[in-house]
Amino acid sequence: MNDLKKLKIKISSKKIKARVEQIGRELSKEYKGEPPFFIGVLNGSFMFLSDLIRALSIECEISFLQLKSYDGKKSTGSVDIIKDFDVILNNRHVVIVEDIIETGNTLKFLLNKLKEIPTKSIRVVTLLVKDTNRPFEFIIDHIGFEISQEFVVGYGLDFNERFRHLDSIYILE
Ligand code: IMP
Ligand code: MG
Repeated sequence: MNDLKKLKIKISSKKIKARVEQIGRELSKEYKGEPPFFIGVLNGSFMFLSDLIRALSIECEISFLQLKSYDGKKSTGSVDIIKDFDVILNNRHVVIVEDIIETGNTLKFLLNKLKEIPTKSIRVVTLLVKDTNRPFEFIIDHIGFEISQEFVVGYGLDFNERFRHLDSIYILE
């Protein structure tokens, strides 16, 4: 079982690092003076979030929630909460951190859930967006990279929990 051979490089760790640092600098400017609350969407965002927060020159708070909408290489269409967030976001600037947005179902679900909470603002940051030819019903404030319709793994992204540990992003053939 050496499936690492089946991986084709898509975005190198060097490119990811440069882009993540750039987004970190932009966020540091946007939230100067008012520490934002980062909410990472597990599992996929853990590596991106951990690099992103270390690229900040401002203070911040961090928490996670865990959602599931994928089974293998397919979106299931429904979103389940595996672990809800347990922090108070009232009157706070919230930054949602995602690994990848494809249909937008996951994010739509999360943004709807956050509507119930009187936050000060909500911004969305995602490492990747898949080109789906369909407009999203929400605004994405920072996008790391746009990719075509292909299944990618590495840098937190998995195929049935595998390949998350890789420091670059690969196409799984
Ligand atoms: P959406 O709800 O269709 O936007 O899908 C978003 C979620 O599906 C992401 O947070 C990922 O967990 C997962 N996902 C979508 N595309 C990929 C992929 O190419 N590789 C790994 N996970 C993916
Ligand atoms: Mg995800």
